[in-house]
This record gives sequence, structure tokens and C-alpha cells, in this order.
Amino acid sequence: MLIFLDTPEIEPLKAGHATGLVDGVTTNPSLIAKSGRDFKEVIAEICEFISGPVSAEVAAIDAPGMIKEGKVLAAIADNVVVKLPLTIDGLKACHALTQEGIDTNVTLCFSAAQALLAAKAGASFISPFIGRLDDLGQDGMELIHDIRDIYDNYGYTTKVLAASIRSAAHVKQSAMAGADAATIPPKIFDALYNHPLTDKGLADFIKDWQKTGQSIL
Ligand code: E4P
Repeated sequence: MLIFLDTPEIEPLKAGHATGLVDGVTTNPSLIAKSGRDFKEVIAEICEFISGPVSAEVAAIDAPGMIKEGKVLAAIADNVVVKLPLTIDGLKACHALTQEGIDTNVTLCFSAAQALLAAKAGASFISPFIGRLDDLGQDGMELIHDIRDIYDNYGYTTKVLAASIRSAAHVKQSAMAGADAATIPPKIFDALYNHPLTDKGLADFIKDWQKTGQSIL
């Protein structure tokens, strides 16, 4: 499963990259606004050290505007993936950009029917938002299962990128549902490896090893 970090913040991205476990990055306009950084500048900076897919979202809401912006974003670096909203204009732009060989991530997906259309439009990634569905009392994970089934039924190669992840359990459930990738906030990345029993077990092993008076080197 591919793991992307859902942030434009350089420090956590560098820390995640140093682990060798991070395959890519996603951003969105809200995260860019929160960072206070210049959008194109920060995407270029991320692409200097992340060689996997880096999603950058268009701001236009009409297809011609999205296509124009998408080309500008794609020109920043070879690994930029143009993020488009799941509207009819977003799907048109996805189709057009795909024809030009530009990778796309269709975002704000909340139904399997939407995901089917994104695959037909040639999206490289579809981003179903699990957490936001759960917030409404719906079952976000069911959406991942449904999309997986539909894509497998027809052999669509669009990658399922589980988004709006709120917990380590979401990551595990997405993996079990067959998501190709998950994009997660840095805090959740840490939650994937941290476990109190690992910490306690290690503390005991260190104490007992010291009692042996031995050294491996
Ligand atoms: C994905 O690409 C989005 O940026 C992100 O996962 C949205 O998450 P949120 O619902 O926590 O804002």
C-alpha cells in the first residue's frame, strides 16, 4: 500500500521522507491556506525531495480554467499530480488532461457512482473522503469497498487513494478493503508505528540486556 502524507508542511514531510516509508504527498487549498506559503513555491520545494506523486489542486471551477491551471501545475515538476474536484467540470478537465499525459487525482469523492465516472475520465487516482462521510454518520469504509469492487469488475487502473483519514484504524481498514494508497496527516503516520506495548516491551528488554553486561559490538 502506498502511503502519502496529507500536508504541505516541509518539516514533517522531510521527517517522513527520511523514514523511507513515504511514497508521495497530497495537498489541498485549505492546507495551503493554513501553511501561509506561496502555493506553487511550496509544491516546487516538496518536489525537490519527494520523487513520488505530489498532488496539487486547481482553484478554478470551470473545465477550461482547470485545464489551464492544471498545465501550469504539471509544469512545476514531472511528479506533480493535478488534483481536480469531482464535478462535471472536474471530470471534463480530468479527461482532457489525461489525454495530454498529465496525471490526475480526482478529489472530494463521496459516492461509488462518482468514482466510476472518475475512472472513465482516466483519473490516475480517486480520493474517497472516509472521515467526512463518517462525520455525517455514514460508513466511509463501505465506499472504499464499493469502489474497489467496481474498479476490479471492469479492470480500471485508477488507484484508490483513501483520504480524509482520521485514525490508524482507518489506514488498516483501507488496506483491508484493498485501497491502493492512503493519504494521512503526519500525526496519523506516527500513530501507525507507535504502540504502548512496544515501548514497554523495549524498556524491559533494555533493562534485562544491561543486566547481562554484554555488548554486541
Ligand atoms: C485529501 O487529499 C484531502 O486533502 C484530505 O484527506 C482531506 O481530509 P480532511 O477531511 O481531514 O480535511
